[in-house]
Amino acid sequence: MFKEKFSEGIISAKQFNREDLEYILSKGREMITIKNSNILNGKILATLFFEPSTRTRLSFESAMYRLGGNVIGFHSADVSSFKKGESIADTIRTVQNYCDCIAMRNPLEGAAKLASRFANIPIINAGSGSGEHPTQALLDLLTIKEESGTIDGLNIGIVGDLKYGRTVHSLSILLSKFEANIYFISPKELSLRNRYKAYLQEQKVKYKEVTKYRNILDILDVLYMTRIQKERFIDQEEYEKVKNTFVFNEDDLEKTKDTFKLMHPLPRVTEISPDVDKYTDKAIYFKQTGYGLALRKAILAELMSED
Ligand code: NCD
Repeated sequence: MFKEKFSEGIISAKQFNREDLEYILSKGREMITIKNSNILNGKILATLFFEPSTRTRLSFESAMYRLGGNVIGFHSADVSSFKKGESIADTIRTVQNYCDCIAMRNPLEGAAKLASRFANIPIINAGSGSGEHPTQALLDLLTIKEESGTIDGLNIGIVGDLKYGRTVHSLSILLSKFEANIYFISPKELSLRNRYKAYLQEQKVKYKEVTKYRNILDILDVLYMTRIQKERFIDQEEYEKVKNTFVFNEDDLEKTKDTFKLMHPLPRVTEISPDVDKYTDKAIYFKQTGYGLALRKAILAELMSED
């Protein structure tokens, strides 16, 4: 059923209803304990990355190899025919002859959607400009579910660059399918765009917008920190003004509940002080990358396996 519903791939978090989420989270959980398998034997994933990546590309590739499949691809626009002026449409119409699924990251917000119009195999949006990054949000949910035991009823703070942060957009959409209370924390200039707020309002989500997290640290179950997206600023002076707005440190951690979890999609720049890293019961951002592998194995298996 998942395979049929997602036959065009995973383009936006909006494709998922609660049932789909429960299903993929349970499959993600299974993959935590299945290290290697050969269910994708003979299958090929193409990773087309027109923008930098460490975790997303490598975890997709590792997931594919762990399931017995193979990977082709490129990791920079400079080494693909994009450099010669080739369109996304032509790239997709070509690459789909060489593989069974495409994971693509591109600086254009509508790129994954456009790609899916020209593809006859599933496209996975691995980050589209400052739009969405749905598989990151799925792995964020898996992390919360496994580490906090539930998603419903939690107080979840999302802090940093809510305007340009694509992981924030997809995560907010997915959280709207649960009974979570969301606190959006950012300077005014980087607040969540109206189109996402309108979606959350439609879904009757309980959310608040604040500019500081320090006053609410004692009630939060999860704080999801994000990087200020330097590369999306048109004016670098504007970036300089906001770049150090939030720096989470050891003192902050002391004010949190015993069960509190600090997450981050990574890469981090200055927004979490390295002193916090050693508190691994609460600072779970590196553990989160491990859940990413499990979740991506689940996604690839669902989209490509024959049975
Ligand atoms: C994020 C991204 O690329 O959107 N990283 C990731 O995929 N884990 C977050 C970021 O770049 O800040």
